[in-house]
Amino acid sequence: MSASTLLLVTATSDQRREHYAEVLTTIRSLLDGEDDWVAAMATVASELHHAFAYFDWTGFYRVTKPDLLVIGPYQGGHGCLRIPFERGVCGAAARTKATVIVPDVEKFEGHIACSSTTKSEIVVPVVTADGRLLAVLDVDSNERDAFGEEDQRGLEAICEELGRAFA
Ligand code: SME
Repeated sequence: MSASTLLLVTATSDQRREHYAEVLTTIRSLLDGEDDWVAAMATVASELHHAFAYFDWTGFYRVTKPDLLVIGPYQGGHGCLRIPFERGVCGAAARTKATVIVPDVEKFEGHIACSSTTKSEIVVPVVTADGRLLAVLDVDSNERDAFGEEDQRGLEAICEELGRAFA
């Protein structure tokens, strides 16, 4: 079961909000009763990647030791395998445990270009109820300025549920 439509980058805020609500419902039903963290990340990456036309790389980087992110389940071309906390957009989100939106990756100092086609990016932390960072969700788009407030809200809602369920 997948979200029925593919949302385009031209979608309005209302359309984005509705689409995220649908996708969240689908993800909840897919993960119902699942307690395996890798299975959950893989399912979320696949579901998101196929529900938004402007998601060109969608995946997780896991915290494997203090200050290090290692690639997890993803969809898209191959990504960088390891990202120290001090590097890139993913590192910035991991350090601050806060979402980072980069409308134009060329203007973000330290951006790690895994793909030359990426133009904008959003990275959302997955944090447990007691404040521990488990992973970050990284979504890259080949469109400039692809991600807005509704994307942030929608992806944060998914990551919050993951953080609660997989502490
Ligand atoms: N662009 C990211 C690196 C990860 S990949 O794009 C898949 C960053 O700057 O953290």
